[in-house]
Amino acid sequence: MTHLHFVNSHNGQLMIGNFTASELANRFGTPLYVMDEKYIRNQTRMFKASFIHPTLLSEVIYASKAFLTIAMCKLIQEEGLSLDVVSGGELYTAYCAKFDMNRVYFHGNNKSEEELRMAIVYGVSTIVLDNESELELLLPLLTSAQKVLLRVNPGIEAHTHEYIATTKNDSKFGLSTADPATLALIERLIREPLIDFLGLHAHIGSQIFESESFFKEAKTLLNYISEHKLVVRELNLGGGFGVAYTRKDQPLSLPEFLRSLLEHISQTLSSLGLSPMKIMIEPGRSIVANSGTTLYTIGSTKTTINQKNYVFVDGSMADHIRTVLYGAQYTALLANRMSDVCDTQYTVTGKACESGDIIIKETYLPPCTKGDILAVFSTGAYHYTMSSNYNRLPRPAVIFVNDDQVRVVVKRETYQDLIRNDIGA
Ligand code: LLP
Repeated sequence: MTHLHFVNSHNGQLMIGNFTASELANRFGTPLYVMDEKYIRNQTRMFKASFIHPTLLSEVIYASKAFLTIAMCKLIQEEGLSLDVVSGGELYTAYCAKFDMNRVYFHGNNKSEEELRMAIVYGVSTIVLDNESELELLLPLLTSAQKVLLRVNPGIEAHTHEYIATTKNDSKFGLSTADPATLALIERLIREPLIDFLGLHAHIGSQIFESESFFKEAKTLLNYISEHKLVVRELNLGGGFGVAYTRKDQPLSLPEFLRSLLEHISQTLSSLGLSPMKIMIEPGRSIVANSGTTLYTIGSTKTTINQKNYVFVDGSMADHIRTVLYGAQYTALLANRMSDVCDTQYTVTGKACESGDIIIKETYLPPCTKGDILAVFSTGAYHYTMSSNYNRLPRPAVIFVNDDQVRVVVKRETYQDLIRNDIGA
């Protein structure tokens, strides 16, 4: 069987960097989030090297909601990307990692006064406003000019799951370009003395495979800018570039796509007679998803009266929510028996008291036995960040592997951690 392109094995063992996955599982325990640091660095470098154009300024901003820890902030800073944060918590993490605040973009559709204050005190580069009431909250807090982008919604329908599609006209995010009130707000932003209005931001959804959706997004926004003669210095097109979770997924070839996107923008700018502007993108998933593998130890197995086979792992929907939340599909293999024939159909499920606790609905594995190590691939994005303590299950550790180096970047939670905020213990 051919593996996903980023999966390596040697002598029947899954390799992550120069380590066997079994060795990592033994040493750090399971469930374990393993991130291949080299893969993440290569992705950041590919984005930086490909998202360039001779006549346009460009910037790659990592969407930290996909995966954020202090170590990740440091990596992003070292690789020279900027950072998108959407909450006081993400901003605080960046601050504690000493991330250069001149490279931080503060998003969110309902920023609190406290969060906006924090952003101003920390000196974040740009606040991405979602709506007019946020502006009303921001203005009294300003004592000097604040760079601002406005999130708009160009009405592009990208083919993705409803919960991660963000730009239909009635989306909770941003303001529709079809709504005349949006233009009125832009005109107000241009007039406000303490607002340095830089331009527009949009994000059309996540896990998108069609380049056409992004071309359409850019064209629609540039047409809008041209039609209303807006003076715009920056245009942020968001993230959303899809990745492979299974062999059926056909992601865009990013190096070619990114160059062609900028070329398309450059040509559209010329044909509309617009001045060059800085173009930004905000990839999250495409930087980290395929770097991550979750390792689980298999406990029991069982076959129901209808001959359905279950394999139970020592994690759950608490560390892997995407299957139940989005019907997401994943690829899994036995890390300690990579050459064995996958001839038995299983449902992979975990420890949570919930029938929806499904990690993989249907997959083929070799007949599993207690103690086998199950590797679930492409779990580097939106897994650690969306994990919970449901059933008081402690969150797994996160480790970074870089060839023959390995380090813990997030400690495994303990039972003490689970009750640390409980009063009366
Ligand atoms: N920029 C903005 C404004 C966003 O809202 C997002 C994602 C991104 C960038 C990054 O998108 P990416 O490149 O990672 O697709 N929890 C969901 C994904 C939600 C994405 C929300 N916004 C999931 O697990 O699929």
